[in-house]
Amino acid sequence: MFRYETFGDETQWTDTLRMNEVIQAAVDPVTALGVGLKVDSDALPAAVVDAIKAGAVDLTSTQTTLTLIELGAVVGVQGTVATADDGSKTLTRVGITCALCHSTVDNSASKALGLPDGIGKRLDGWPNRQLNPGAIIALSPFLDSLGADAATTVRGELNSWGPGKYDPRYIVGGGITDPGVSYPAVIPPAYGLFGLKNAIFTGDGDVQHEPVGPVAYWNRYVSVTQMGGHGTFLDPRLPQGKGGGTGVNNIGADGVDMVTAHLPALQEYQYSIDAPAAPAGSYDSAAAARGQALFAGKANCASCHSGALFTDATEGKLHPADASVAADKVYITLSATQQWRTSPLKGVWQHAPYFHDGSAATLADVVTMYNDNPNRPLHLTEREQADLVEYLKSL
Ligand code: HEC
Ligand code: HEC
Repeated sequence: MFRYETFGDETQWTDTLRMNEVIQAAVDPVTALGVGLKVDSDALPAAVVDAIKAGAVDLTSTQTTLTLIELGAVVGVQGTVATADDGSKTLTRVGITCALCHSTVDNSASKALGLPDGIGKRLDGWPNRQLNPGAIIALSPFLDSLGADAATTVRGELNSWGPGKYDPRYIVGGGITDPGVSYPAVIPPAYGLFGLKNAIFTGDGDVQHEPVGPVAYWNRYVSVTQMGGHGTFLDPRLPQGKGGGTGVNNIGADGVDMVTAHLPALQEYQYSIDAPAAPAGSYDSAAAARGQALFAGKANCASCHSGALFTDATEGKLHPADASVAADKVYITLSATQQWRTSPLKGVWQHAPYFHDGSAATLADVVTMYNDNPNRPLHLTEREQADLVEYLKSL
């Protein structure tokens, strides 16, 4: 489901946004890799790999993209391809899955074939920080139906997000409440989440608001309100039009809920994915040991990043606005809780940039931002800051 289920969202990506036409007309494999789409090398038959090696596959032809979609090789993209008598292909239906944003590949086939990065074995749960969802949606001809001025405004917002970011509250259930204002968040990992009582940066997901569990709360939100899957979402804590009030009813014409029954297994799969361990030799262990003492002691990090998962969200704890040292101060106001969840830190080496808005490019920037926090300056020496960074790299 995580890899291949669209929840019926072809109605949004094909019937409304007409992305099948966009892909067919303009997205050849080189362009696709350029906007961060990934190719699953395990889905490529040996004959195709041999043809690529022999230089017999045209990577600047959109027909090649359609072949890859037909093979199920484009991560997070599910399509139906019709082939005419002359062999030419047409993309008749297209939809997206969770893997579009929350999987990447290890680039092994790119390296072996001497091709641009983006082809390799799937890494589920690893955020796709190259993917540029805003730039992709901006290509939709549907936006022109909003009128020229609104289309320009919306395309400007979508194109301002950049790779690895997405605003999950800009367009809700197909409606745009404020075309000129958006607050994109970095696409987070979907690994290392088992044991947390709250999901997402602001902890909106919990068992009180979705009996299946915290991750399922957000999976329902995203699949229905963002992907366009056929289901319903309602959270009375959110304002009308953002999932509150009467909620979002995206059940299709056939009246079939294609989301709810999938939620338990979908959540279990995400819970089964552990955060990846730090690669051998990627940090200085003596410095990391000194950093560990600082983390628990002088730097006071463990007061929030506590326990085996490095977060007090294992106890369902959330924090007020000033707990985040990130540059953006608005995102929290769009949430159901109006609070922050302490981010879990296992595997944190893997997914720069950091904080919900990506305002820290590196772990060194994270430590600097905490050290210089005007509300709670830490007064760490240069050496102590460097040690803390080595410890974070080891988690
Ligand atoms: C267009 C990109 C996109 C798609 C598609 C998408 N997500 Fe996300 N996902 C995000 C963003 C951005 C966030 C961060 C929201 C926040 O934390 O405020 C997020 C948050 C999450 C989280 C929270 C992680 C945590 O630390 O608590 C989980 C779990 C998740 N998504 C799983 C899924 C699943 C399962 C699907 C498919 C039903 C899905 N996502 C589809 C972009 C996406
Ligand atoms: C008051 C509670 C609190 C304290 C103390 C605290 N953190 Fe955090 N930490 C948070 C919250 C909340 C976030 C999420 C903020 C955001 O994304 O805007 C976070 C995010 C992070 C992240 C980014 C994780 C990611 O996925 O992007 C890192 C790394 C981090 N903290 C390290 C530290 C270190 C190192 C210290 C000690 C110097 C520390 N934290 C102290 C609450 C805290």
